[in-house]
Amino acid sequence: MGIQEEKKLYIETLGCAMNVRDSEHIIAELGDKENYVLTDNLQEADLILVNTCSVREKPVSKLFSEIGKYNLQKKEGAKIGVCGCTASHLGKEIFKRAPYVNFVVGARNVSKIATAVNTEKFLSVDIDYDESDYAFGDYRNNLYKAYVNISIGCDKKCTYCIVPHTRGDEISIPADLIIKEAQKAAQKGAKEIFLLGQNVNNYGKRFSSSTHEKMDFSDLLNRVSEIEEVERIRFTSPHPLHMDDKFLETFAHNPKVCKSMHMPLQSGSTQILAAMKRGYSKEWFLDRALKLRAMIPDVSISTDIIVGFPGESDADFEDTLDVMRQVRFEQVFAFKYSARPLTKAAEFTNQVDNEVASERLDRLQVMQDTILDEIATSRTDKIYPVYIDELRNSGFLAGRTDNNALVQIKGDENLLGQTIPIKITNPKRLSLYGEIVL
Ligand code: SAH
Ligand code: SF4
Ligand code: F3S
Repeated sequence: MGIQEEKKLYIETLGCAMNVRDSEHIIAELGDKENYVLTDNLQEADLILVNTCSVREKPVSKLFSEIGKYNLQKKEGAKIGVCGCTASHLGKEIFKRAPYVNFVVGARNVSKIATAVNTEKFLSVDIDYDESDYAFGDYRNNLYKAYVNISIGCDKKCTYCIVPHTRGDEISIPADLIIKEAQKAAQKGAKEIFLLGQNVNNYGKRFSSSTHEKMDFSDLLNRVSEIEEVERIRFTSPHPLHMDDKFLETFAHNPKVCKSMHMPLQSGSTQILAAMKRGYSKEWFLDRALKLRAMIPDVSISTDIIVGFPGESDADFEDTLDVMRQVRFEQVFAFKYSARPLTKAAEFTNQVDNEVASERLDRLQVMQDTILDEIATSRTDKIYPVYIDELRNSGFLAGRTDNNALVQIKGDENLLGQTIPIKITNPKRLSLYGEIVL
């Protein structure tokens, strides 16, 4: 094969950590097989990719205005591809709405990207299972922390959620492959491993073959922690329903497992949780969260909340605020409910008025900001070990405490990849600023 000319790839990644990891795979595949290198200059790109998210309506409508703009700005002959969850759910409809798009590759089909760039109007959006989905290429955005997939898809079918339709059934990746992937990343300098899946603590319920070693999520955490170079383990997203005592105890007692837990509440009302098909009650959620707080004084807990789910009354919403007051989450990702195609809740007839939902979201955010300001202030003058993993454009070095608080300092680039003690001098709601303790 002759030497191929270098081509330029511009890629925009929307959505969750799984999409970020899929984009890394796409970049690796296109680099290895098609000689693409990354660019952040749209106009010089030979290929423009958008790795899309479908979880709410807004980003989907934005996609079409965005690629329309790219089509006008791109250099002559450049291709445009749409990948990810919106590709999965809209499929060939994308060619109809945006005829200049060259190919469409779903979230479960990213391994086909090299074929896609060479095939006009290529379309691959099935959610069938294929073990080559495991084999991710060798590219990472950040050398110091590595995303590692542990499962793909989701079986839960929460009534509001499109993800099971875009990523298919939930299948656990064999543990030996996960360990190999984590080892490889750790040997290249990633002291932090971030395990990814839609329901990580449901790990081990279904493998693609009965020959794969049986293991649950707690065992997997312990196995990853045996890798010597790994100092920190994080994961997302766990599901509150599967937070049994074994899991909480492994989380609490394994020193390499970082003490920050994502507990997606969605709603504090047991009735709404049932309509969402979440499988737990307000009491179960509170029991788990407060148990965690009691077991680990420094634990931080983050959450996702949907405001204005069909049928949500003022009293239901008060239940959500009540859980927020009791748990005092360190981070809250709250969004208005957005009706999604293919989901049960989209057919519910008791949709909440948009203005009511907006008012509730505002109230929730005002309350949460007060909590966050109190938490930030309480961290003044505290000293934390911080793993420095990023040099920001602002010139600040950034890293995280064990319990996931973002810390920024002025300092030298050679601190990247090191864990250093930092005293918090200027705590802000979204980031703590500090100084190195000498
Ligand atoms: N597997 C994860 C969530 C993945 S989707 C879990 O179960 O928690 C990420 C977040 O998007 C969800 O936690 C939820 O808060 C939000 N979300 C999903 N569907 C939504 C919808 N239709 N409208 C608004 N927010 C939604
Ligand atoms: Fe969606 Fe529910 Fe699965 Fe999370 S658990 S991805 S919210 S269906
Ligand atoms: Fe979005 Fe797909 Fe992730 S819908 S949140 S990119 S799984």
